[in-house]
Amino acid sequence: MEPTFNLDAVDKKGKYEEFIPGFSALIEGETDMISILANTSAALKEAFNFFWVGFYIVKGEELVLGPFQGSVACYRIKKGKGVCGTAWQEGRAIVVPDVEAFPGHIACSSLSRSEIVVPLHSASGAVMAVLDIDSDRLADFDGTDCEYLSRIADILAAAMHHLDISEKV
Ligand code: SME
Repeated sequence: MEPTFNLDAVDKKGKYEEFIPGFSALIEGETDMISILANTSAALKEAFNFFWVGFYIVKGEELVLGPFQGSVACYRIKKGKGVCGTAWQEGRAIVVPDVEAFPGHIACSSLSRSEIVVPLHSASGAVMAVLDIDSDRLADFDGTDCEYLSRIADILAAAMHHLDISEKV
């Protein structure tokens, strides 16, 4: 039986605390990264009802759209472009309270108002992929999201570390 992600906690921190054990159980034992990223997107959508949640995967000099939940999105993002490409280039999480105030923001949906992007790092520190979450409300993400989504990204990255590079994505 797969875990469900209908969380009881009322506050955001409590929801993440409740989410992480089920999420860890969900990905344990699976080695196909696309499958893991697909189920992670579905679990995050179910638990938090994010407007858009998914992954962009580093392929050469671009980020390429990976598994996601939400409306159709742009396929490719160059390094340093948009929020995702900037998070990749700088190797750090970026919280954007107002996407219209972020220079070069790439609008996949006109309804997106705020965004958070968190990188997944390889064992050597390179960015392998980014987790991208959009909200249709302004300033929907804060330090709590950054802390817990970074933890989730680290769990995913650790699941990728033991795989041969050709198997990762
Ligand atoms: N807004 C992102 C592009 C991806 S969509 O949000 C799904 C960006 O500026 O990189």
